[in-house]
Amino acid sequence: MTDTAMDRRAFMESGGKGLAASLFAGAVSEGALAQASPSPRATGQRMPEGASLPSPTPRERRPDSVGFAVVGLGSYALNQMMPRFASTDRAHIAAIVSGNAEKLRRVGDAYGVPRDARYSYDDFARIGADRRVDAVYVALPTGLHAEWVIRAFAAGKHVLCEKPMALTSADCERMIAAGRRAGRKLMVAYRSHFEPYNREAMQLMEARAVGRVRLVRTEQSYRMGPADPASNWRTSRALAGGGPLEDYGIYGLQSALYLTGEMPERIAATAFRPSGDPRFAEIYAHVASQWRFPSGAVAQLATSYDSAGINFAEVRGTEGVLTMDPATSYSGQTMRLKGSQERTLTPGDPEVQFGAQLDHFAAAIRDGTPIRTPGEMGLRDLRLIEAIYAAARDGRTVRLAPDGRMLG
Ligand SMILES: NC(=O)c1ccc[n+]([C@@H]2O[C@H](COP(=O)([O-])OP(=O)(O)OC[C@H]3O[C@@H](n4cnc5c(N)ncnc54)[C@H](OP(=O)(O)O)[C@@H]3O)[C@@H](O)[C@H]2O)c1
Repeated sequence: MTDTAMDRRAFMESGGKGLAASLFAGAVSEGALAQASPSPRATGQRMPEGASLPSPTPRERRPDSVGFAVVGLGSYALNQMMPRFASTDRAHIAAIVSGNAEKLRRVGDAYGVPRDARYSYDDFARIGADRRVDAVYVALPTGLHAEWVIRAFAAGKHVLCEKPMALTSADCERMIAAGRRAGRKLMVAYRSHFEPYNREAMQLMEARAVGRVRLVRTEQSYRMGPADPASNWRTSRALAGGGPLEDYGIYGLQSALYLTGEMPERIAATAFRPSGDPRFAEIYAHVASQWRFPSGAVAQLATSYDSAGINFAEVRGTEGVLTMDPATSYSGQTMRLKGSQERTLTPGDPEVQFGAQLDHFAAAIRDGTPIRTPGEMGLRDLRLIEAIYAAARDGRTVRLAPDGRMLG
């Protein structure tokens, strides 16, 4: 493949499929980052604050409904994903996996999960023989995704993996290879691909609603409260990589890709880690990058764990501007399109994104339909994250192949 704009577009349109399995030995977040904590292990945690559990409500299930085992009963699984199974057409919670026995009991009772379908991390391998479980939903800290996705494939299950897919492109490649070996499907839970505002934005950009794209700006930030690597996995390098970019900035990275429909050919970047702040003993506080696309468009991405909240995306073209603020939240999206006239767009309820991604994966499993956010897309994004950190670490502009691999 030659390094042309056509190749990059073709690569984007294929969702990053067909990547060579060769392993890129790039640094992820070396340089300014402190020594990582020891290799992480899956261990049970306290019930997240504010978790509300439903009363069990039996419901009719389609005979082809896909049974999911939810792995890791943390804040996102309990507060966002598990309640949304009730809104799906053909997905249900068949099993739960946790390192906290009390949580297994309370959550299992609330969701009507049979006692013999409540697993600890130690007895996870038994899930292979559990015919009620078709797929595993991995909602563990990121540094544990690779291990547990590979274990789920070894148990013969399909896998829906939370974002980001892993902490390195090498781990993504191992996960994809494990899925292929097992003959099972892998999807990354990039919910914005199933959310009406972002779906509409993708279509508007394809229809050139702002003319030719020239400038893209994305910002994802919030101010993290007091924390350190022992108390909050999001500040641990072993579990969270470089920090805000993998966790929150990845939404801006994704937006920049699906709004332009291109892969960048050059990336420059900077990352900052203050000294003496326990939150940033192992991770960065801010990461900013500047991308150039083959079309000549440029993008500026910024993400931070230490500045006031924002979740923003804007595309400025030759004929107008599309502004999304917030851009990729759970709810409350706004979108304005400014051309010869200004319009506020309200394409649908963002709420549907959670259930829609579950039904999408269920359709892929039952009907063989293509996955919009496959493992190859997660791998592509990790390559870009590695390029951003390499550019920041070395203070140079990194050139990229159409599949996101660094050229030097
Ligand atoms: N798509 C989205 O919008 C979105 C939003 C938020 C988070 N996420 C993703 O979801 C995943 C989980 O995030 P979260 O916010 O739910 O985290 P969280 O509240 O901290 O929950 C993580 C859970 O993982 C389990 N776990 C196992 N080993 C652990 C360890 N060594 N340290 C910490 N937890 C451990 C625990 O469950 P048990 O106690 O049951 O074992 C814990 O409650 C991450 O990949 C994150 O990026 C996605």
